[in-house]
Amino acid sequence: MTEPTLQGYLGTVWQHLLHGVNDRHHPCRHPTLATIGPDGPQARTLVLRAANQGVATLTLHTDSASAKTSELCADPRVAIHVWLPDHRLQFRLSGTATLQSGDMALWSGLPARAQTNYGSAPSPGAAIAAPDAVASTPDPARFTQITCQIASIDLLHLAADRHYRAAFDAKTNWQGRWLAP
Ligand SMILES: Cc1cc2nc3c(=O)[nH]c(=O)nc-3n(C[C@H](O)[C@H](O)[C@H](O)COP(=O)(O)O)c2cc1C
Repeated sequence: MTEPTLQGYLGTVWQHLLHGVNDRHHPCRHPTLATIGPDGPQARTLVLRAANQGVATLTLHTDSASAKTSELCADPRVAIHVWLPDHRLQFRLSGTATLQSGDMALWSGLPARAQTNYGSAPSPGAAIAAPDAVASTPDPARFTQITCQIASIDLLHLAADRHYRAAFDAKTNWQGRWLAP
């Protein structure tokens, strides 16, 4: 294997993230989003909707009535994790989230079936008497875009010859540095 470079690894991270946006079978399609809840950390799977290396953002969609939304309003810090088994790569990204609800242009582009994800009664996470005791009236006001402004990236590559780890930060203009794995 040719010796990896910091900028090569940074490009690899964003290429894979973009691939996840466009390919439902790519592991970056379903990152784990971690937030800070009132009782400690919370992690869950989301669909990655957009990745933009130029402005270092990742975009996700959720329901404004979900727990993660109130957690992000209280503390916008996030971590995002992906493991790519075929490439033996782990990405850990961290940053801050901003929320935007009720974007009608985005809403009208969603398939009808996807719109039903936003508007359940009772709200996601509420106790129900039976699995079918929930109804959904699609509600564009509940449709929420989460934009994660990425401030740092930690990459771990379990290559056959050795393990590589690198860190990248917005504040150093993503120049990167090697870390002990
Ligand atoms: C494959 C998969 C994809 C998911 N995609 C989303 C998603 O895009 N947005 C979302 O809000 N929840 C998604 N979920 C559900 C979340 O993992 C989570 O259960 C739900 O949002 C409630 O999380 P919360 O209580 O922490 O807010 C997905 C779950 C799985 C397993």
